[in-house]
Amino acid sequence: MRARTGLFLQNHSSEERETVGILAKKYCEGDQDVCVFSKTGISDWGGEEPISFFTRLPTACLNNAVVSPRIRPFSTNFGQVFLCNLSQAVGEGNRIVVPCQNESNGRKKGYWTASWLTNALETSVQYHPEEAAAILSAPAKPRRRNSILQWYVQEAHLLWGQLQSLKTMDFNTRVVKGEYPFLRNAVNRVVSKPNSRFLEILEEESTYRNWMNYCIDGVYYKSALLQHMLERFFQTRQDLFVADMGAGPGYLAAELALCDERVREVLVNDSNGINLLFAKRFLAFFGEDFASRFSMNISPMEECRYERMYDVICFIGSLLYLPRDMAGITLDRAWDALLPGGILVVHENIKRDSYSRDYHLMFTTGELDDALARFGRILYFSSTAMMEVAPSRAGTSTVFRVVQKET
Ligand SMILES: C[S@@+](CC[C@H](N)C(=O)[O-])C[C@H]1O[C@@H](n2cnc3c(N)ncnc32)[C@H](O)[C@@H]1O
Repeated sequence: MRARTGLFLQNHSSEERETVGILAKKYCEGDQDVCVFSKTGISDWGGEEPISFFTRLPTACLNNAVVSPRIRPFSTNFGQVFLCNLSQAVGEGNRIVVPCQNESNGRKKGYWTASWLTNALETSVQYHPEEAAAILSAPAKPRRRNSILQWYVQEAHLLWGQLQSLKTMDFNTRVVKGEYPFLRNAVNRVVSKPNSRFLEILEEESTYRNWMNYCIDGVYYKSALLQHMLERFFQTRQDLFVADMGAGPGYLAAELALCDERVREVLVNDSNGINLLFAKRFLAFFGEDFASRFSMNISPMEECRYERMYDVICFIGSLLYLPRDMAGITLDRAWDALLPGGILVVHENIKRDSYSRDYHLMFTTGELDDALARFGRILYFSSTAMMEVAPSRAGTSTVFRVVQKET
């Protein structure tokens, strides 16, 4: 009998495809037809509706699923929702093969372990240490609304339908606060024309979908690391206030508020008013109580005046868009707005020849370290595991730089 097996890949390189194919042969019964879903948006799913790695899969459309060991399997709500989406696609009782670490390694890196998988999915787990893999029999359990991924899985199709209206949108429309109760400022401000890069994204449905997928995918590792920092730096603090500058629609900040109840309020800043439209959608999904913890400020971050003090202020992939002298002033203001013991978090791709887009804007490690060292000792956190890394190991890799204000 031929069974249909879904292979879930990180980048869809030929080596990755081969490794995952070997796991499928070994652990999934039957002579298999395979279909590939990849984070980069490539999918050879043959249904009528294009389906991406993170969108809702038709119920019981697969007999088995194999998740690539290259995916960073963070033990977070996001990871849990991803696996639940898979499990409803794989008929009940069928098999899902996932990466799995032994307990001590997994705990150290924040990755899936047999005990985490058992608790998160309430299913039986067979751990195969020789392959760092586990086999789950597909559970079919409705989940709580506890990750931005849940919104995306359920409502991405509404976003695709929005493309035409985004394309033809009059960017001179004035923002009316009543339409966006979470909007902090910008009454009477125009939505403002997005930059040319964003307009390119809107040109094709496929580029729009890939971009949305890319943004959501980014939340996976960013929120894992930020959650790790909340635990590490604020073990005993009860109410946390978080600001994310140049945050896009605020997916990351929303994820933090969904995952850690201590996050009492998030402020999301971005210069592009179009983000209001996306934020409005996910806030409606998560309901009023959640929306009351979220506010958005549409203005250039260099003009932002903080209305209160924060425990965490993040700049994730956004500082590079400021002229360097403005970046310094913007960081100074953020530092002044941090509570004692608060943390400034900066994440930037380091300038490397392999980058073509934004190469001229990117920071070198020296520039970034100089911009932050004046505030105090810089700590470095990996982008691929929930752990701190030594400065000498950070090198030119893309890491989170964190400076904590004295208590
Ligand atoms: C690469 S995206 C990163 C978005 C988000 N931080 C993330 O990690 O997915 C850069 C964001 O910075 C915003 N941005 C660029 N210049 C800005 C400025 N001067 N003030 C505020 N936001 C800005 C853009 O609109 C965009 O949403």
